[in-house]
Amino acid sequence: MNLPLRLAEIVEQDVERYRRHRASLPQLAANLSVEDLAGQAMPDASPGKWHLGHTSWFFEAMILGKAPDYVAVDERLQALLNSYYEALGQRVARSQRGLMTRPSLDEVMAYRKEIDRRMEARLLAGLGDQEERYLFELGLNHEQQHQELFLMDLLNLMARSPLDPEAYETEPRGGPAENPKGGWIQCEGGLTSIGAGDDGFAFDNERPRHRVWLEPFSLAADLVTNQEWIAFIEDGGYRRPEVWLSDGWAQVKAEGWTAPLYWREEPEGWSAMTLTGRRPINPAMPVRHVSFYEADAYARWAGRRLPTEAEWECAAQLEPARFSNLGNEVWQWTASAYLPYPAFAATPGTAAEYNGKFMANQMVLRGGAFATPEGHARPSYRNFYYPHQRWMFAGVRLATDKALVDAPDTHEAFRQEMIEGLSRRDKALAPKWFYDAEGSRLFEEITQLPEYYPTRQEAALLRRVTPEWAGWFGPDAVLVELGSGASEKTRIVLDAAQDLAAYVPIDISATALNEAAERIRADYPNLTVLPVVGDFEHLSPPPVEAGQGRRIGFFPGSTIGNLTPEAAVSLLKSARQVLGEGSLFVLGVDLAKAPELLVAAYDDAQGVTAAFNRNLLVRANRELGMDFAPDAFEHVAVWNAERSRMEMHLRAARPMTVHLGKLAFRFAEGETIHTESSRKFDRASIEALAQAAGWRLEAFEISDSPSVALALLSS
Ligand code: SAH
Ligand code: AVI
Repeated sequence: MNLPLRLAEIVEQDVERYRRHRASLPQLAANLSVEDLAGQAMPDASPGKWHLGHTSWFFEAMILGKAPDYVAVDERLQALLNSYYEALGQRVARSQRGLMTRPSLDEVMAYRKEIDRRMEARLLAGLGDQEERYLFELGLNHEQQHQELFLMDLLNLMARSPLDPEAYETEPRGGPAENPKGGWIQCEGGLTSIGAGDDGFAFDNERPRHRVWLEPFSLAADLVTNQEWIAFIEDGGYRRPEVWLSDGWAQVKAEGWTAPLYWREEPEGWSAMTLTGRRPINPAMPVRHVSFYEADAYARWAGRRLPTEAEWECAAQLEPARFSNLGNEVWQWTASAYLPYPAFAATPGTAAEYNGKFMANQMVLRGGAFATPEGHARPSYRNFYYPHQRWMFAGVRLATDKALVDAPDTHEAFRQEMIEGLSRRDKALAPKWFYDAEGSRLFEEITQLPEYYPTRQEAALLRRVTPEWAGWFGPDAVLVELGSGASEKTRIVLDAAQDLAAYVPIDISATALNEAAERIRADYPNLTVLPVVGDFEHLSPPPVEAGQGRRIGFFPGSTIGNLTPEAAVSLLKSARQVLGEGSLFVLGVDLAKAPELLVAAYDDAQGVTAAFNRNLLVRANRELGMDFAPDAFEHVAVWNAERSRMEMHLRAARPMTVHLGKLAFRFAEGETIHTESSRKFDRASIEALAQAAGWRLEAFEISDSPSVALALLSS
């Protein structure tokens, strides 16, 4: 009984979807001139007018024309609008599409309208069999593919004009790029399956789903950025044959490539042609318009490689949330040749020519781009282009064979965060960058200052509580210290816990860490000392040599207060996981108190804290070749009552421009870089923090005034 109703619903949906898909191309064309839509930028690209006509022709050729008594809208258009279907007869060569001044744009739009009228009538009559339904879905997906092609081809055309035309006021489609998530996603590999299952629409080239074997690998959470690409250029990337495939190097020489397509070097840095005209390169954004050859060369230069399409699909399916910009920024080159999957069968009939006949000499791209219509791509989607082509919205996501990735290259990370931090409206840098050798030395000097009470107070409190707390550590315990610096306070714990099996200090400052480890080894000859250089925000399990006793986390000095509240929770969570069952955690925190005391502690009379703060700029000058004038930045220490934190800033005393490579960052007079926040806690905020991270607060001890506290947490 309800069958007719369901049928009516299906018909209604078909018509609605058809209209929606078909409305997009005319919308993209709406504010362009007749000339914009007629030009052909290069043999690979087609005029906008042709896209408008061809997509209509597709419905006529694949669906309408199948009716036995069908009379074509205009027989003469067939050869003009057929792209590559040999079975459908003669065609105008693709490279000649720009020469078609007839039919006029008006005639093409009239043709489009007539096809829409006929298609809607066809849909209202109800689609016939499964095959026809598949062709209808194919037509909609084909339409969507041409929406992206339209934009690619248009950009190429606009880029030919010395006027740098703005095709659009704002970039059509896609939202802003997602923020980077950092690091690498490890995949164990093994036996897995890729390809589209039997349900839902997929192109024939995505089928059948089949098994593949993957060795362990890691896939980058983020896309390669413009800034990283600039580093490649500046390191002679386009001049060094050793990083290129032979065919790629031949291309570099033949075409004189020195940068991605559309890039131009200006006196003030790189710019690129975009759909909104010529724009300065935004260093933090993913790189666009690179060929497979360039992507491959970049990966080799970076000591990595491109992922295979199976690796990409496996990782993207397992953990999509851990990646940024999987499918909404640029397509990502893979190391996989575009080949048929095992047992591939082309769609029967005319549509057999859609994908299968291109399966030679092209490479697969995965993901999706900002210009890809929403909902069009999926994890099994296989885009493909020739390895030299780069007018597509294509970029790079790196992979590596290592299941475990070594500590990140600090220099590159510093550079990246510097650019990111100075590009923000409110300029900021993470406090971890204070700690080069000189920064660590200056911090030790701070701990001796009369105004900086936390170190003295915490040491005294440790002497009071550790004898009791160490009693709970148990035999062969392993002390894992986060941000150990000079490991001075550690001695109080080591003296109280004589039967510790091992000490694992973790610090980002290699010199401070190694010197401290040497001193501890000398003074505690029976203790195994296993220093780890690294970022405590990316904790790994203690080295196996440490033994199997209870893990004791030790995080003194209120360094946890230097993290954002969210980062503090994640750090404590990951510490709980890494330290494991039965672990304890000793956390030292500074408590909120009178602002005068706090401000004095962060703005001492001798100016040591100011030097510590400015050392960040000295470090950037030395390590990144920047040109900060450290003396032109004032040290600022302020109490932020609302957020219960001390803040340190560096304030530009005059308007300034500083450079990093070819990038320039401007400072207005009085503008600051926020270099550190130091949160001040109370018992309730620590209890909440511990609880949010899954720890239980076992004890909370407060020192004499000026007060600091030690919390003992259990997992
Ligand atoms: N625990 C010592 C030192 C505190 S100073 C004390 O209480 O006195 C902060 C220390 O943390 C420095 O040695 C610094 O190098 C380290 N550090 C800061 N950020 C870090 C990070 N993200 N990862 C690892 N170490 C870090
Ligand atoms: C390491 N950290 C907890 C110190 C703090 O107090 O926030 C760093 C510091 N900054 C200025 N003085 C000391």
